Amino acid sequence: MARVTTTTPAGPAGSAFVRACRGQDVPHTPVWFMRQAGRSLPEYRKIREGVGMLESCRRPELVTEITLQPVRRHGVDAAILFSDIVVPLAAAGIDLDIVAGTGPVIADPVRAREDLDRLRPITVADVSFVDEAVRLLVKELGATPLIGFAGAPFTLASYLVEGGPSRTYTRTKAMMYGAPQLWHDLCARLAEITLAFLRVQIDAGVSAVQLFDSWAGALSEADYRRYVLPHSASVLGGLATAGVPRIHFGVGTALLLPAMGEAGADVVGVDWRTPLDRAAATLGGRAVQGNLDPATLFAPWPVVEEQARRVLAEGRAAPGHVFNLGHGVLPETDPDVLTRLVDLVHTASAR
Ligand code: CP3
Repeated sequence: MARVTTTTPAGPAGSAFVRACRGQDVPHTPVWFMRQAGRSLPEYRKIREGVGMLESCRRPELVTEITLQPVRRHGVDAAILFSDIVVPLAAAGIDLDIVAGTGPVIADPVRAREDLDRLRPITVADVSFVDEAVRLLVKELGATPLIGFAGAPFTLASYLVEGGPSRTYTRTKAMMYGAPQLWHDLCARLAEITLAFLRVQIDAGVSAVQLFDSWAGALSEADYRRYVLPHSASVLGGLATAGVPRIHFGVGTALLLPAMGEAGADVVGVDWRTPLDRAAATLGGRAVQGNLDPATLFAPWPVVEEQARRVLAEGRAAPGHVFNLGHGVLPETDPDVLTRLVDLVHTASAR
């Protein structure tokens, strides 16, 4: 009897990364790192000298070079576009800056209904530099997949309403609870912008997208389902037929993981607090991504190795596992440890 074999397409669609996202068999567990491009790399610090963060996101040649740096150095299984979650907000008309050591700062925070008028819908013309950068990168990367990304409505709204980073999300929650219609209208506008931004990246050739709801862990499950899930679902659901895997990630989301999956993710990103086997048990057959604690990389190598092997073992409980950290690479991380970790993941998981 003829054996049925799944054909592996050449190029990024047949890569270990895309196959793992789809729960298909892989030759090894694929690995990439959130914030793999950035301050941990001396070549990044050098090329960014004298160029502001937002400005560097708007120069396609620079974006291409910065995106490729960690692929060359570490041999990761995927590249992630060098950009920021607030780039589409600036393109939509919001006056903002990305301040080194702080993060996004909004000149006039969004607090009232009339402020919504400052958030225009975006088209490809508003982010043509992203379209161009993705096209350049897809050519350079060959069979290595490129991940596109955007911020989810809640995380974007938290920056817009607070005016910058926050620990308590006081003003965000005040709007959510005190002016729910305004909150929902704001998030609906953000969902529309986010969906348009991700479509630009998909049309230009990215092989997967990640929706970052980094700060969703500030919410209870009930509030997440009521105030946030419908908007993230309109983004992820809008991409259901786009043909690329959708990854959905947040921090401190142990109790939100099933709901984040239901929002329309193929892969759920998990931080280091939740073992991947426990996450997988609640995710209804979705693949997982994660979840080594980024601080582990400052421990002696035998500890890094033991913890990485544990993550690999726990990841086998899911139909697909993409190895990553539980959040972004910390700027002080020794890049040689990241390179060594990529090699370890590849050899320890080889089938
Ligand atoms: O390599 C990659 O992961 C791609 C690049 C990337 C950046 N920002 C570049 C960046 C990605 C995916 C992001 C997403 C992003 N931006 C998120 C979601 C991911 C997460 O970390 O949860 C969030 C919350 C932001 C907002 C933001 N922008 C923060 C919190 C910061 C850090 C502030 C600081 O200086 O510590 C930024 C600035 C930023 N975005 C930097 C980089 C490389 C640092 C700025 C610099 O290098 O000068």
